[in-house]
Amino acid sequence: MKKIAVFTSGGDAPGMNACLRAVVRTGIYHNLDVIGIKRGYEGMIDGDFHAMSAHSVSGILHQGGTILQSARSNRFRTKEGRQLAYEQLQKAGIEGVVAIGGDGTFSGASVFMKEHTIPFVGCPGTIDNDLFGTDFTIGYDTAINTAMDAIDKIKDTANAHNRLFFIEVMGRDAGFIALRSAIASGAEAVLVPETKTDMDALVASLKQNYENKKTASIVIVAEGDDAGGAFQIAEAVKKRMDYYEVKVSILGHIQRGGRPTAMERVRASRMGMEAVKALLDGKKGCMIGQIHNETSYIPFDKATKHHEEIKPELLEMVEILG
Ligand code: F6P
Repeated sequence: MKKIAVFTSGGDAPGMNACLRAVVRTGIYHNLDVIGIKRGYEGMIDGDFHAMSAHSVSGILHQGGTILQSARSNRFRTKEGRQLAYEQLQKAGIEGVVAIGGDGTFSGASVFMKEHTIPFVGCPGTIDNDLFGTDFTIGYDTAINTAMDAIDKIKDTANAHNRLFFIEVMGRDAGFIALRSAIASGAEAVLVPETKTDMDALVASLKQNYENKKTASIVIVAEGDDAGGAFQIAEAVKKRMDYYEVKVSILGHIQRGGRPTAMERVRASRMGMEAVKALLDGKKGCMIGQIHNETSYIPFDKATKHHEEIKPELLEMVEILG
């Protein structure tokens, strides 16, 4: 193998730059030419290719976002789009690809590899932590720290005014951000898409808190919760507890940006390095993960089909400790 490419795709995540830097520098260390593809699969189809040097990834380890930019590509979902992407890769002499992204990225890579011969290896870049076969994805640790920081601040004002806050965090299909940011900020309740939300139980517990003179409360809602978004849930609760002043706060995309935490940078760097080594070892069609601090290799289809379960004991922690 003489030439590889790397790209970032799907929702960006803090630590993607650290991973990219590791891919480029590990590739160069092994005498490979490394090409950066801009704008994910969109750039692959358009041939938006750029030669990377060790210097081109200087000063990005600590930056959020991705210097290669990202996209969600509808064209790559079509056979014609994938054919165009293949032709571009072939024309550029690319013999292996590192994909940094989430489930959409790996589903695309998996379909591509059934049609074409160029091997792909993935690094799990998503704040949602919703991929199977890795304890943590790139971006998750930073996102929960960002959420925790914001929730701490909201808690100050909630206490000052005796208010009940519903705070919505990201996680369209997964409640991992909600779960750990709730534990870390001492929230009174957390609602996640993985479990059915019991509105009666939620109201009963908030009422109990109120009767016990706990006059401010925080409920963390994952955006994909089955009972609806934070506004909808707050509205329903307000109807049953009209004596409580209810507020809603949507944290939104601030959770996607910012400087990656130290652990994020270390994890992302290691995954990027292992991805290049995996390509050189002839591995393909798999995501690099880390389980108990050891590198794991998970087939794309397995990584995307399910995600790790929400541990009931962690949900119980919120209930007991909050
Ligand atoms: O996949 C990561 C994620 O942040 C989800 O939690 C969220 O629902 C989605 O991306 C938002 O995507 P976009 O930025 O395209 O609106």
